[in-house]
Amino acid sequence: MNSTDTHQDQALLREKAARRRRATALAHPNIALIKYWGNQDDNLRLPANPSLSMNLGSLQTITTVTFDDSLAGDTLAINGVPFTGPTLERVTANLDLVRRQAGLTYRARIESDSNVPVGSGIASSSAAFAALSVAAAAAAGLDLDQAALSRLARRGSGSASRSVPGGFCLWQAGDDDSSVARSIAPPEHWDLQDVVAIVSQEHKEVGSSGGHPLARTSPLQAARIAGVERRLEACREALLARNLPALGPVIEEDAVIMHAVMMSSRPPLYYWTPTTMALILTTQRWQRDGLPVYFTIDAGPNVHLICEAGLAQQVEAELHKIPGVQTVLTSGPGGPARLIEH
Ligand code: PMV
Repeated sequence: MNSTDTHQDQALLREKAARRRRATALAHPNIALIKYWGNQDDNLRLPANPSLSMNLGSLQTITTVTFDDSLAGDTLAINGVPFTGPTLERVTANLDLVRRQAGLTYRARIESDSNVPVGSGIASSSAAFAALSVAAAAAAGLDLDQAALSRLARRGSGSASRSVPGGFCLWQAGDDDSSVARSIAPPEHWDLQDVVAIVSQEHKEVGSSGGHPLARTSPLQAARIAGVERRLEACREALLARNLPALGPVIEEDAVIMHAVMMSSRPPLYYWTPTTMALILTTQRWQRDGLPVYFTIDAGPNVHLICEAGLAQQVEAELHKIPGVQTVLTSGPGGPARLIEH
């Protein structure tokens, strides 16, 4: 399917959705190679710094939004389980932005299915709010471009802005208007793999929404921000040149400095476990043995190993041998968030 077909398909699906007030969208989660941590504005989710990520093509969330005038309130089911409370409130807040823009008062039914394992430490909210935004906008009859959809997804979860475009995405800091993500390379650009060692599936005590406001309490956040443009540029160049030995050390430095900020904030956030540390040291040993594999770590204890496709199976097999590693998930680059047939 070429890009014109895709464009036409999307336009057709948008027309249908507007008629039925119902749309279904698919989105992939993403892994940040240069991290977002802390906001300039917590309410608007305007990030303290720009970030860069890769969509994870083998993981996905599919969400259907139906606006229905017979509903008294929004309803939400994730993998068939009804959700109320703060999770539903966060979804309603995002839908309110769509309703305001479309001049619509109807409440909505949201049904979401995801193959991102719950508690896997892979940012499921990035795919969740990207799929929700794309489906809700279409169901409300809005014809939003990718930048506007990325902005809308950002309001639900910062990293969701980067799951709207495809492949490798750069999310700008800036103001409400300019802080959107754009693709800098399509998924086919580079068959990079994220081999995730899951070391804990426990629910995190402090998730990213609670963590971002703490970033400014760390004396290291200013140093992190001061160096981020340099790391971002180095990462972008290495990515465009498909140069893993140049990319690897930069993503490791960026992940570690984010965790240094987390550990030195008040109250501190310690996401690493002894297995996390063991995996970092193992990765260093592999590098000394000549294997081009590098780590990054999100707001959790799981370790993401980044390598090229040819090495992924070997890395997976080695990870399974390490005590404390519960499961291993592998994904290559994924496409943009998009409307699909119901
Ligand atoms: O989008 P949030 O609020 O879940 O924040 C994501 C934060 C990190 O995953 C730690 C880093 C990132 O840039 O994705």
